[in-house]
Amino acid sequence: MTVLDPNFVRSQFPAFSEPSLQGFAHFENAGGSYACGQVIDSLQRYYLQTKVQPYYGFGPSHAAGEQMDQARKRMASWLNVAPDEVNFGPSTSQNTYVVAQALRQHLQAGDEIIVTNQDHEANVGAWRRLESEGVVIREWQVDPESGELDPDGLDDLLNEKTRVVAFTQCSNIVGSMHPVREWTDKIHAAGAMAIVDGVSYAPHGLPDVDALGADIYLFSLYKVYGPHLGVMVMRKTINEQLPNQGHFFNVDHPTARFTPAGPDHAQVASVNGVIDYFEAVYAHHFGVEEATPEKKTSRVRALFQHTERRNLKPLLDFLSSQKSVRLIGKAVTKNRAPTVSFTVQGRDPAEIAALLAERKIGIANGNCYAYRLMPALDIPPLQGVVRLSFVHYTQKEEVSRLVGALDEIL
Ligand SMILES: Cc1ncc(COP(=O)(O)O)c(C=O)c1O
Repeated sequence: MTVLDPNFVRSQFPAFSEPSLQGFAHFENAGGSYACGQVIDSLQRYYLQTKVQPYYGFGPSHAAGEQMDQARKRMASWLNVAPDEVNFGPSTSQNTYVVAQALRQHLQAGDEIIVTNQDHEANVGAWRRLESEGVVIREWQVDPESGELDPDGLDDLLNEKTRVVAFTQCSNIVGSMHPVREWTDKIHAAGAMAIVDGVSYAPHGLPDVDALGADIYLFSLYKVYGPHLGVMVMRKTINEQLPNQGHFFNVDHPTARFTPAGPDHAQVASVNGVIDYFEAVYAHHFGVEEATPEKKTSRVRALFQHTERRNLKPLLDFLSSQKSVRLIGKAVTKNRAPTVSFTVQGRDPAEIAALLAERKIGIANGNCYAYRLMPALDIPPLQGVVRLSFVHYTQKEEVSRLVGALDEIL
C-alpha cells in the first residue's frame, strides 16, 4: 500500500520554511489551513500579469478569463460533477445565505425543512430564518452524551411535507464522518433535497460529490490549502428549479444565478493552485499515468486519511485516558476526522488554549460557531470546548509534542 510521503507534502507548503513560523505547531486547521505554494504563486502571478477585467479579447484579459474557466473545470473534474455545477462564492455562509433567498421564493407555507443541532450555524441559521415565511423547521437532534446524529432521528422527521434536509458530512466539533449516501438516499426517497456541508470533510480529501448524492454540497477553500472562497456544487436539476438570484440578464448562466456578487477573480484563478497541489501529490505517489478523476480523488483522499488516522490515534488514546477529560465524539479513528474536541472538569477551555499558545501550539477554543451543539451537550456556548485539529501535513512529532504539552497542562 502506498503511504503519504511527509517530506514531499511539507515541501509544498511555504509556511513550513517561513522563518517567523519556525517552532510553531498549527493545530487549528479546522479553522483555516496553510496555503500550498501553488496557490501563493498563482495569486502572485495573477496580480502581476493578468490583474485586469477578465473575459475581453485583449491579451491579459483573455488569459485571466482562461485561468478562471480552467479553475472551474478542473475543480469540477476532481469533484466528479459538471463545470456548470461548480459555483465560487465568497464563503460557505454567503453561499447558504443566497440559496436561502432562493428557497424563500420557492417554498410554500407548511413546507418543512429539517436542520440539525450538530451543524455549524452556516448550515442552520439561513434555513431557520425561512420560518418567517411559514416554513416549518424540524430539528434532528444529537445524542446529548456523544454528540452523534442517529439516523433513526432522520426517519422520524421525514414526511411528505419535507422539502429540504440540511446536514453536515463531518461536524467541526464531533469529527465523525457521516454515511452521506445512505442519508441522501433516504432524503430523496422522501422527495426532498439534501444540502450537505462538506467544510470539515473536504480538507481530508475532496469528495466525489456525484457518489454522495448531495443536491447542494458546500465547502470552504481556505481550509483546503487555498484562497478564501466558498465552493458550492449545485446539481443541474436544482439550479433549474430554484429562482435566479443574480442579475436578471444572467438568468440563463447557471454559474451566475446563485453567486450574485462579482467573484474575486484572482482567487478563483488560484483554485488552479489547489488542483495543482492535488495533482502533484497524485503524481509523486502514483506516477503520471492516466487515471480517471474519480480514481485520483479517491487515491489522494485515502493517502490523506490513512496518515491522519495514524497520527490521530495517540491523541485520542491520551485524551481517553484522562479522568478529567470529556472527549466529544468517538475515541476510535475509524471514519473520524482529526478534529478533536473536549472539555476538562473545572477548567476553562480558554485557559488551556492560552497555556498551549505559550508553548507555541495554536488551537481553537469556544463553540466554533456550532453554537447550538453546545447546550445540546450541556456545555455553556460561550465557554465551549477545546478543539485540536490537524490535517495530512501534520507530522507525528508535532502530535507527540501536543500530547506532551497537554500532559503537562491537564
Ligand atoms: C463545518 C463548517 N461549516 C461551515 C463553515 C462556514 O464557512 P465559511 O467561513 O466559509 O462561511 C465553517 C467555518 O468554520 C465550518 O467549520
